Amino acid sequence: MSSNLTITTKLKNKYCMFNTDAFTSGQIDSKLWVCRELEQLGWTSELTHIYGGWYGILAFLLLSREQFKVTKIESYDMDPSCQSIADMINENWVSKNWQFKAYTLDCNQPVAGAPDLVINTSTEHFDSLAWFDTIAPGTRVVLQGNNMPHDDHVVYSKSLTEFKELYNITDVVYEGSLEFKYPTWSFTRYMIIGTK
Ligand SMILES: C[S@@+](CC[C@H](N)C(=O)[O-])C[C@H]1O[C@@H](n2cnc3c(N)ncnc32)[C@H](O)[C@@H]1O
Repeated sequence: MSSNLTITTKLKNKYCMFNTDAFTSGQIDSKLWVCRELEQLGWTSELTHIYGGWYGILAFLLLSREQFKVTKIESYDMDPSCQSIADMINENWVSKNWQFKAYTLDCNQPVAGAPDLVINTSTEHFDSLAWFDTIAPGTRVVLQGNNMPHDDHVVYSKSLTEFKELYNITDVVYEGSLEFKYPTWSFTRYMIIGTK
């Protein structure tokens, strides 16, 4: 038993330098939800920016499913440890003429480029709305937020309506809530898709 534990700890130290929360059902099902809704809309994209892209798992899912037609995905996160992990997870597309690339950047500063789609599933982590204000009007956006109390969350929306009120979206093509129920706690994630 103790040697099993030692092996487990060694493996963790070797392979889990990142936050394994990224692979929980609350994270993965939320990103699969983005994939499904984007695929249903039938949108195509020349350049998609993902803000607060963390380890690039949303990009990995979108690209792996091969349904959402996107030429290039750029993932931006202010945490410098994310870039190499996101590039490693998406190496298959990094190696294909940079179809995916991660960058270290505070998205509250203007982000270079002219994306036709901006995705932010990390809105609850952003300490200002500067990132939204700098998105060019007319750009399509996918935004997720939630009502989960958490030390790292700076935005708490108690309903989809309250979440929507944070953003001026002119043309909403999808809005919805997804409940996550666990034995001892639960939370709801919200999503809006539309045009700024
Ligand atoms: C915990 S993760 C993502 C959680 C989220 N539910 C998701 O979609 O995966 C939140 C990420 O947002 C990033 N972040 C927060 N503020 C940011 C900013 N101003 N610019 C870029 N990334 C930011 C953090 O560094 C972190 O990696």
